[in-house]
Amino acid sequence: MRNISPSIIAGDFSKLDREIKEIEDLGITRLHLDIMDGNFVPNLTFGPLLVEGIRKLTKMHLECHLMINNPKKYLNDYISAGGDTVIVHIENNPEFEENLSEIKRQGVKGGIAFNPDTPIKNILPFVNKMDYVLIMSVFPGFCGQTFIESTIDSMSEFVNQKKKNSSLVVAVDGGVNIQTIQQVYDTGVDVSIVGSGLLGAKDRKKRYQELMNA
Ligand code: DX5
Ligand code: ZN
Repeated sequence: MRNISPSIIAGDFSKLDREIKEIEDLGITRLHLDIMDGNFVPNLTFGPLLVEGIRKLTKMHLECHLMINNPKKYLNDYISAGGDTVIVHIENNPEFEENLSEIKRQGVKGGIAFNPDTPIKNILPFVNKMDYVLIMSVFPGFCGQTFIESTIDSMSEFVNQKKKNSSLVVAVDGGVNIQTIQQVYDTGVDVSIVGSGLLGAKDRKKRYQELMNA
């Protein structure tokens, strides 16, 4: 499916309200929020306070991608802040299954993210418990990295898993741009996260059309 969810960290935070309005005006209905704690990943972004602010600015579906240690401690904060889908990583997180149950118990969509070097067999057994799977096509931490081609197989595999869980949303995150998006679409994924490949463009409207029509 051609459904693009922009990663807001690739936008300009000095005019967040206008950035969000511009994204909405493109006809986009989802927004990807990259939450980094400077520990789980080497970069530090923002926390629930900003998610709450963004929530007030838009009705778009907010995906909170938590790249943080001990996500359990903060799940409630992101849910209360207005996240519609809350995604935890499987790496360094023995409690990911509990996290998923807790997110769902609170009436929010629960997702699992996994890194390019995490074996897919670690995630497959939970396919019926997840609402959303985030296949990382870069190692998380920064925008503008190079798409890792070998992750394409995981995309196809999870699209195939929709036979078991038809409501599963399969998403891909990292290095998706005008050069790489066609192969992503070809796998049949539901959502493509695009950061610098869209928000870094001079003419975003034109770039969005190019990405949708690739
Ligand atoms: C990677 C983040 C991604 C990333 C997307 O750590 O989870 O969402 O910022 O940005 P691009 O599309 O520029 O790789
Ligand atoms: Zn992300």
